Amino acid sequence: LFSAVEMAPRDPILGLNEQFNTDVNPNKVNLGVGVYYDDDGKLPLLQCVLRAEKQMMETPKPRGYLPIDGIAAYDQAVRNLVFGAESQPVKSGRVATVQALGGTGGLKIGADLLKRVNPGAKVLISDPSWENHRALFTQAGFPVETYPYYNAARRGLDFDGMLTALQMAPAGTVVVLHACCHNPTGYDITAEQWDQVIAAVKARKLVPFLDMAYQGFGHGIAEDGAVVAKFVASGQNFFVSTSFSKSFSLYGERVGALSVCCQDKDEAGRVLSQLKIMIRTNYSNPPIHGGMVVATVLGTPELRALWEKELGDMRLRIKQMRLALVEKLKAAGVKQDMGFITQQIGMFSYSGLSKDQMVRLRNEFGVYGTDTGRMCVAALNSRNIDYVCQSIAKVI
Ligand code: LMR
Repeated sequence: LFSAVEMAPRDPILGLNEQFNTDVNPNKVNLGVGVYYDDDGKLPLLQCVLRAEKQMMETPKPRGYLPIDGIAAYDQAVRNLVFGAESQPVKSGRVATVQALGGTGGLKIGADLLKRVNPGAKVLISDPSWENHRALFTQAGFPVETYPYYNAARRGLDFDGMLTALQMAPAGTVVVLHACCHNPTGYDITAEQWDQVIAAVKARKLVPFLDMAYQGFGHGIAEDGAVVAKFVASGQNFFVSTSFSKSFSLYGERVGALSVCCQDKDEAGRVLSQLKIMIRTNYSNPPIHGGMVVATVLGTPELRALWEKELGDMRLRIKQMRLALVEKLKAAGVKQDMGFITQQIGMFSYSGLSKDQMVRLRNEFGVYGTDTGRMCVAALNSRNIDYVCQSIAKVI
């Protein structure tokens, strides 16, 4: 059965973790995967999470199966966070939300649903995009193409190219859009550009799918999620996948969600029934712990305020690392202007380094980033940044 099975390539992001873990270089630094580490290089356990867990343990509950769509209070908390508790879609009950296994799980459930209701469509992702977007939608059975997004020569957006591609896309095309903190480039479009994108998507009858994995890492929770209200105002159906991996530092708990904004409550009920089939036939129903932690934090005003503060601190530290990176690259002898790093937002910097340079960084210096030149600024700290900058200076 398996004699002709070929060895698959390593995952371009998580595969780097495997390589990093076996690297014996004592100076190694993992800037590959999008994970936030504190200034001591430690994965944080947020205080809001710890306190929610303590609260949960005061009245421990047995672990029965969850409903297929997850914890009701969690789904409601996600809807409130993403759309606003007082928003018309939430108040009228026209958002179908399901708990999902991380943001990736939300994307996959959405992709599977779309394949069922829109089987002949193609999917457009940004060029470049998170590597797993292409793989995930391809795996769900869609042809995947790209719309222009980043102009390497200009070190910025190719917004005209993006808009033109959307204006030419056939009706029904699924368009994957990064709601904030574009992964991998760190360049977001402006509010005015969003208006143009939304108008194009609506005029061409495309299907918008927002990936919101980094809410709170750009300018703030509300600011980063502002595009959702714009889509609501445009009156279209749209998808939003949410991840709490990064914003709650709950990577291994796989806490995410998929929300589908429908025309009315009846439609949302029918969509939810189909989403439940996708979930049931994949993994039956989600796990309890992570979802319960997030629901507890979001549902307890004091813990929610603490979460916002802790997320704000993470956002601030990343910004400081961006400034330090620019300064220290200069000090390490890098001649070219690296100031663009401070214009990028979110966890990543698209460094502009070539694949060869990234491979050298990894093999000669133990500094891991993706082959595309993406580096996770959120994994830099006051102890490893000098070494990283000196290493980069040597390969540039
Ligand atoms: C990343 O882009 O590094 C993260 O979203 C983690 C992942 O699953 O790829």
